[in-house]
Amino acid sequence: MKKIALTMIFAGATLMAADGAALYKACAGCHGAQGEKAALGKSAKIGGLDAATVVKDLEGYKAGTLNKHGMGGVMKGQAAKLSEEDMKAVAEYISKLGK
Ligand code: HEC
Repeated sequence: MKKIALTMIFAGATLMAADGAALYKACAGCHGAQGEKAALGKSAKIGGLDAATVVKDLEGYKAGTLNKHGMGGVMKGQAAKLSEEDMKAVAEYISKLGK
């Protein structure tokens, strides 16, 4: 019985997990629906980038240590809203874009 209850709690937690597609809506305005745009004319195209690379970039922006094109401050504001789990979910979504 205890085991069943635990399984149900776990399933519930999985359903609550961060939704990459929903999170990406906040990014699409600058990066394009398929990650095909250079955001504000500066960034690299992010659609199809390796998920691990995207997570690393987002961590760097959140920490304020990354500034690839002189506009890291813009991305710091974006990344600040994301938890570690959100970053992984949105990175996973981005890695599948444009393919
Ligand atoms: C207001 C516009 C804007 C929004 C919204 C935005 N970005 Fe960005 N993004 C930028 C800019 C500008 C850069 C270039 C930053 C720099 O100078 O390093 C960038 C860079 C990036 C990079 C690195 C790309 C490279 O050039 O290597 C990633 C990854 C990224 N953004 C992901 C995201 C994600 C994920 C979201 C949504 C949670 C998001 N961005 C939302 C403007 C935006």
